[in-house]
Amino acid sequence: MHSADLLRTHGDGIASGKPGVGRAHGKLILLGEHAVVYGAPALVVPVPQLTATATATRLPAAGTGPDRIALAMAGPGSVTPLATDGMLHLVTEFEKRAGLTVRVDLFIESTILPGRGLGSSAACARAAALALADAYGQELSAAEVYELVQLSERVAHGRASGIDAVATGAVSPLVFRDGIAQKVPGGAAEHPHAAFVIADSGVRGSTKDAVQLLTSRFARDAELRDLFVTGVTDLTTGALRDLEHGDLAGFGRRLTENHGLLRELGISTGHIDSLVEAALTAGSLGAKITGGGLGGCMVALAADTAAAEAIAGSLRAAGATRTWMVPATNGGVRAEPTNGSK
Ligand code: MEV
Repeated sequence: MHSADLLRTHGDGIASGKPGVGRAHGKLILLGEHAVVYGAPALVVPVPQLTATATATRLPAAGTGPDRIALAMAGPGSVTPLATDGMLHLVTEFEKRAGLTVRVDLFIESTILPGRGLGSSAACARAAALALADAYGQELSAAEVYELVQLSERVAHGRASGIDAVATGAVSPLVFRDGIAQKVPGGAAEHPHAAFVIADSGVRGSTKDAVQLLTSRFARDAELRDLFVTGVTDLTTGALRDLEHGDLAGFGRRLTENHGLLRELGISTGHIDSLVEAALTAGSLGAKITGGGLGGCMVALAADTAAAEAIAGSLRAAGATRTWMVPATNGGVRAEPTNGSK
């Protein structure tokens, strides 16, 4: 059971009509976070095991008061006020686009820990947009859902490339660049048992602070920004070539190199660096921080499931608070906890 983290409740009205439901899931960035904000390509896989489900219950008599939107969230960690603000913006924008005034109870249940770089805020926003559309009988195009999620993400994260908004609704690995997502061609077919291990450092990160940190650094040093973006672009394009050629070891090395670039910019933490080291020592083909950083999670590539179990054990021994396993070959559409945790 998750602890309920009740942010606001005003649900004093009587439900009207069938509740709308929306679903989204977590994501795992393999290469390119932060650089994607500046136009580099990034590689991301969906993590469907980690879910966000929103239920929108229409209440009778649309009102105009501040209590017409009741928002409650339940999940494994407390949600930031910024994420909540983002969600309220989303509802207001939904109203504007649909030409409606809503009075709604919006309940979001998520298994995605916030502040771990796994797409919690975008998944909650996506689930909420879909639930609202369902409750009010509105057809939203994929582009409209994306725009609503992005609006919420900009409040939660500041600058947002859009990668989380897309990946939290994706069913296969994607390369994301300049707002455009493309399916990853091919895959590691020669390595049917390869897997990614995700490990939680147990420390909440902040995408907003990390994005702001880089904005300030790059404003002072444009050359540093260009070096970073070029370096990551080379790594991501090289990694896609590795996948095509079935070169898992090469792909792994690029993950570790990407970690080095993010660490140099101050995006990693000492604890995450030590988890990366622990994974490599335990036989991982490559490891790095994932997502916004300044805490959160890291990811390690394992050649097969036995190696993944061993790496996950080493990561927990090195202080990871939980681990998950995402098969690398089927687009991450199946993910299993490696320590029985949610
Ligand atoms: C956050 O999951 C990924 C970042 O690159 C921010 C973004 O692309 O919006 C850090």
